[in-house]
Amino acid sequence: MTKKLFIKTYGCQMNVYDSDRMASLLARHGYGRVERAEEADLVILNTCHIREKAAEKVYSELGRLRQMRDARREQGQDLTIGVAGCVAQAEGDAMIERASFVDLVVGPQAYHRLPEMLHRRARREGTVLDTDFPAESKFDLLPEDVEPGQPVSAFLTVQEGCDKFCTFCVVPYTRGAETSRPAKDVMAEAKRLVAAGVREITLLGQNVNAYHGDGPDGKVWSLARLLWSLAEIDGLERLRYTTSHPRDMADDLIDAHANLSSLMPFLHLPVQSGSDGVLKAMNRQHDAESYLRLVDKLRAARPDLALSSDFIVGFPGESDDDFEATMNLVERVGFAQAFSFKYSARPGTPASNQRKQVRDAVKGERLARLQELLERQSSEFNQRMLGRRMPILLERAGRHPGQLVGKSPYLQAVHVEAEGADIGDLLEVDIVAHHAHSLAGRLIQTKPTDPAKIDQSSSRLERRA
Ligand code: SAH
Ligand code: SF4
Ligand code: F3S
Repeated sequence: MTKKLFIKTYGCQMNVYDSDRMASLLARHGYGRVERAEEADLVILNTCHIREKAAEKVYSELGRLRQMRDARREQGQDLTIGVAGCVAQAEGDAMIERASFVDLVVGPQAYHRLPEMLHRRARREGTVLDTDFPAESKFDLLPEDVEPGQPVSAFLTVQEGCDKFCTFCVVPYTRGAETSRPAKDVMAEAKRLVAAGVREITLLGQNVNAYHGDGPDGKVWSLARLLWSLAEIDGLERLRYTTSHPRDMADDLIDAHANLSSLMPFLHLPVQSGSDGVLKAMNRQHDAESYLRLVDKLRAARPDLALSSDFIVGFPGESDDDFEATMNLVERVGFAQAFSFKYSARPGTPASNQRKQVRDAVKGERLARLQELLERQSSEFNQRMLGRRMPILLERAGRHPGQLVGKSPYLQAVHVEAEGADIGDLLEVDIVAHHAHSLAGRLIQTKPTDPAKIDQSSSRLERRA
């Protein structure tokens, strides 16, 4: 009898990728994936520790699962509860103290050991914990199976961990030191994804542009080198990568934005703040001016490049003037999209001990002002798409019959009436309307005629912006 697995994923795209990998590993051990905890024999929460709210959500979900298990036990059934991801890593033993009923606690670098942990748990009482940073790489030990029903657009982790130690951030502690996967492993995985129908791959890493993997030629490959090589895979139409650090935006990568046509003109480049004092206290290793210079360089290489960013407001010691400097930087850059957060003190990080914490009400006011500006910029960006023709990769069914939802080169969702077209098609679309967070388009063809032709026309059109 197959056992049933439900994984609930919190946090960043890397957790989405990890959840899929855990699922294919456990599939080898007889687990089929289901969509609801209620149907599952094993529930894994793949957690995020980045802000307090994210971490607290896990404990309320665990409380719910415990009740579910108690109810089942009354009927002679059972439920195994596991916690994976960054909260598991950060809290480890503390989690067992707070939620001793949890069966498994596994860190992001140790989840290839899940089957063995399940065996150990079956043999004895108490939580089985593994939050090692093992010497072996999980990537070498996970099955190579591609999860069935892959979406057209898939994630592929190429780099993990972080050596930057921004003073607010838990990632260097939860994900460990920066490591890059060998280029040949990445290539092989990309080919398997494309064979399963994937048309767009987003390369993932906490500092993806710091990628420095062993190349098959014996040299160390940069992210740009890797992208050029991936672009040669037949059937792989689009490439993206995230998240980048401004410090690691090398010239060969900027050049790839100018010359590699399958690399999409969208870049998530977190700046966090526009104040040099705050950036220094954050240990970001860049200032506002160097970020602006970098943006100029990128735009010179690829004039229509859409930029996105992350911001933190209310970092300890942030003054009104510091915040105005952030608003100023946003005005100067013009972002297509952005994520912004109130600073959240994380245990064990240097910034959490600083005495000059900003009051929550002040953080709230600043966040509201910043978000209003960012929303306006993103809506203006969407508005500018009106009347343009661009290639859209159709990714999923829309809400009503005949409608498909795809993605623009700039990562916007585009709704199209797509009678005759299929998910996975990359087709030319005229943008006819814009909404707050999406676009509407009209298909001007129902089937790709000649992929080479589409590529050429699209890059010409993209450069027109
Ligand atoms: N590696 C990426 C981001 C990782 S975390 C980078 O270097 O930028 C994603 C975002 O969460 C960060 O960019 C930051 O804006 C936000 N974040 C991280 N720690 C935070 C904290 N303690 N409080 C509020 N936001 C935080
Ligand atoms: Fe966190 Fe900074 Fe590393 Fe990004 S670069 S993961 S914000 S420590
Ligand atoms: Fe969260 Fe860990 Fe990602 S803390 S943002 S899940 S790296």
